[in-house]
Amino acid sequence: MGEKRVLCVGLVCLDIISVVERYPAEDSDTRCLSQRWQRGGNASNTCTVLALLGAPCAFMGSLAPGHAAEFILSDFRRCNVDVSHLVRQSQGEMPCAICLVNCHNGSRTVTLYDINLPDVTAADFEQVNLSQYKWIHWEGRNASEQVKMIQRVEAYNRTCPPSDRVTTSVEVEKTRPEIYQLFGYGDVVFVSKDVAKARGFYSAAEAVKGLRRYLKPGATLVCAWAEEGADAMGPDGVLVHSDAFSPEVVVDTLGAGDTFNAAVILALSRGRPLAEAITYGCQVAGRKCGVHGYDGIV
Ligand code: ADP
Ligand code: FRU
Repeated sequence: MGEKRVLCVGLVCLDIISVVERYPAEDSDTRCLSQRWQRGGNASNTCTVLALLGAPCAFMGSLAPGHAAEFILSDFRRCNVDVSHLVRQSQGEMPCAICLVNCHNGSRTVTLYDINLPDVTAADFEQVNLSQYKWIHWEGRNASEQVKMIQRVEAYNRTCPPSDRVTTSVEVEKTRPEIYQLFGYGDVVFVSKDVAKARGFYSAAEAVKGLRRYLKPGATLVCAWAEEGADAMGPDGVLVHSDAFSPEVVVDTLGAGDTFNAAVILALSRGRPLAEAITYGCQVAGRKCGVHGYDGIV
């Protein structure tokens, strides 16, 4: 049998990206340098990067009917991401983000429309054959349902020898308190700078030390902090750090965090030590910041 796969559960959306010389003033009318449609959403971007790095992977999330969904589906296929766990909803609209990317500093300003498309549920997740996966990652969204999905994996793991167990990870990225319950689940927890700041921490190291007590015993906490790199702490309690790897010119930081998560998941899933995994995460995320989109990161 080939390498077992990584499954990412979360959002896929359409990103309509305008690359601009400078961030426009409100109520102005300007030309942009270029414009493109791109498949987006954290879990979807993490799949894109996993596939580019050569890791077999699958995406699970919701798709609405319509043209945008067809674009998204064909892009998943182009990137070699398995879509057999996509759930086609009959109600709701495809989430869509208008993104402005400043090509001189790579800043990304996102307005996401994500209102009425139902998320995948624990009942949908029942269909997943867990024996195909070595790692399942959840982007925190409908957290109460996602907890039930993780509990199903925990129950499955109790029936398996250690070599067959599925490692779980969660991303706590948005500052919505419902999502914070996910700190207590997952073998690896990714917490964003935004959430760390909302909880009163002003560096990745402080966040990792301060938030670690909310994790289940034996879990690992990882926090990326843009140009300051990333910090992490595993069950041994040793704080590890990686500096960022800045490209010559930072042109596009949209999805840098999703890229970092993909590379860290891949390294850990292949048994690499935590310090090496976050260094690899920063290297791949740094390369991403130097190119538009994802295709140029390998
Ligand atoms: P997000 O996309 O979630 O805002 P972060 O800004 O925390 O993600 O960045 C994730 C990782 O991407 C960082 O740990 C770093 O390695 C890399 N990165 C992000 N911004 C830059 C930058 N301006 N220069 C170099 N690396 C960066
Ligand atoms: C990048 C991203 C974009 C999407 C937005 C949703 O991290 O996933 O692709 O538009 O964030 O919050």
